Amino acid sequence: MPNLQTVRRMLEAHGQGHLLGHYESLTPPEQAALVSQIATIDFDQLDEWIAQYVLKAPAAAIPPDIAPPKIEPRKPADEAARARHAKAIARGRELLAQGKVAAFVVAGGQGTRLGYEGPKGCFEVTPGKHKPLFQVFAEQILAASRSAGRPVPWYIMTSPANDVPTRAFFRRNGYFGLKEADVVFLTQGTLPAIGLDGKVLLAGPGELALSPDGHGGSLRALRASGALADMARRGVELISYFQVDNPLVRCLDPLFLGLHDLAGAEMSAKALPKRDPMEKLGNFCLVSGKVTVIEYSDLPEALARATGPDGRLRFSAGSIAIHVLGRSFVERLTADGRCQLPLHRAEKKVPFVDASGTLVKPETPNAVKLEMFVFDAMPLAKACVILETDRSEEFSPVKNADGADSPATCLHDQVRRAARWLAKAGVAVPRDADKKVAAAIEISPLFADCPDQLAKAVDPKLTITAGQNLYLGE
Ligand code: UD1
Repeated sequence: MPNLQTVRRMLEAHGQGHLLGHYESLTPPEQAALVSQIATIDFDQLDEWIAQYVLKAPAAAIPPDIAPPKIEPRKPADEAARARHAKAIARGRELLAQGKVAAFVVAGGQGTRLGYEGPKGCFEVTPGKHKPLFQVFAEQILAASRSAGRPVPWYIMTSPANDVPTRAFFRRNGYFGLKEADVVFLTQGTLPAIGLDGKVLLAGPGELALSPDGHGGSLRALRASGALADMARRGVELISYFQVDNPLVRCLDPLFLGLHDLAGAEMSAKALPKRDPMEKLGNFCLVSGKVTVIEYSDLPEALARATGPDGRLRFSAGSIAIHVLGRSFVERLTADGRCQLPLHRAEKKVPFVDASGTLVKPETPNAVKLEMFVFDAMPLAKACVILETDRSEEFSPVKNADGADSPATCLHDQVRRAARWLAKAGVAVPRDADKKVAAAIEISPLFADCPDQLAKAVDPKLTITAGQNLYLGE
């Protein structure tokens, strides 16, 4: 443990001496815990961040050379594109069969908007069996492993706050049929909450106020946890990255993996055509020739509404946080063990212990939380593929307790997709007077994880009655 006097002098030199203000009142184990928390922070770097992001809000400057990027259409428009997609699907399947792909979910977020207490991945989402999000992904990964003829490893990023309950949930559920050795947990790093005056906040007399460092922190967490080394040992070259909140995501999409690989890309992304110019999705742009995601809040309205000669939005592609990253790309970005991504600031209400030892619960934002965003790695990639996808097939996140992107909208979207797949397979789906699907239909990824597979697996003579609760599983 570092010498107390050295720590005190170092903190005072950085204007953070108050962090030891209650030190004498702590028990020896609490004192040791506080000092080791302090030791995890690089205060020289923190000084730069405080000057750059806390004491003033950096202005969002829109570069003059911004242009729309090239988007790979979802439906190939001509013979050449059809051949490219067919080749990519074959390449994606080959990469899976060669054990070169891992799934990676970022599940360290706090899920405050949903108002759910536990880790968000434990939230039950499916219409019939009420399966939790983690199970939906696990079944997809198991199905992909069966098709590949070998296990596809799954890396799960937690935060310090939800790591223990997340691991316990998997243990309790027998890893949802996956082998324990192929489910690898890693915990993301944290950054201190900083008062608007530049002082790091104390959550308790012997505890810094720390919060997860954002999904961009996943890159350094992959390195620091040894997950990158574990991937290298297994021969994994591509990381299929997704968020924990979207049960429609295709965790391992051969087309996407294949397009990325054949283009020699280092980081790729799926995109959605925005519903309307002001939809709250990050915008894919080209800045100085590099693919860059500009947050909806930073893109001036005139640019968000700008149209091209064909009358379509110039910046129509929205980011849904589904990526493929090369393992060697993540290795390169994290080579020195530090963060290479810019920080984003958010002003928040953060409870803290003041100089007198009183716990203060602020009514207005009193602190800045800093986060990294994974899409900020895109401009650092030598090449990127942006693949357009279909919202109704691949995106319906659970973010809010009600309204848009809520459990209710997600449930409907799951049923609508299942009904569409069944109709394609020739099965008659009952509808109500408003043409809405009149049965609760759930298809396990272990039964079929795409329309083509369903067409092979289901009997077209299957009858579904109105009001039925239909589950197609193993
Ligand atoms: C995010 C994207 C937005 C995109 C949308 C798609 C940002 C800033 N915005 O919005 O562009 O359109 O998703 O659904 O990313 N997470 C961690 N650790 C953290 C923070 C988050 O693992 O420290 C994980 C969460 O568990 C979740 C994901 O990252 O899986 C997204 O986090 P969230 O904060 O909910 O992002 P959104 O604001 O919804």
